[in-house]
Amino acid sequence: MYKEGIKFYRCNTCGNLFLVMIDPSVRPSCCGSEMEVLDSEHHTHEGSEKHLPIIELNEDHTLVKVGIQLHPMSAQHRIEWIALTDGESVEVRKLGLTTPPVVRFSKMRSDGKIHAYAFCNVHGLWESEK
Ligand SMILES: [Fe+2]
Repeated sequence: MYKEGIKFYRCNTCGNLFLVMIDPSVRPSCCGSEMEVLDSEHHTHEGSEKHLPIIELNEDHTLVKVGIQLHPMSAQHRIEWIALTDGESVEVRKLGLTTPPVVRFSKMRSDGKIHAYAFCNVHGLWESEK
């Protein structure tokens, strides 16, 4: 994995997700067009109480919750997926339409930074680290 971490790309036509972990120069395409890189940098704190992933390290697993107030889940507005990485491994969980945005992941390495990502279909990508 390159040192800047993971890049997520999304197809604006079909919603497909693509992770780039090793070569950041790769520009994936889907449905005949280049995919859009998802950027978590543009967010202000507005909406963070419902979008920022909260990472909880436990003895045998890592729990990620999206929002201090859990993000709402409906067909119109929801968290589509949550990802977690410790720099060596990555886990991604796609959520159902009404699944609460709380995911139990594997235990991550604890000797470096752990990053969690949550993608809201309305408000984009949100990232936090621990
Ligand atoms: Fe949202």
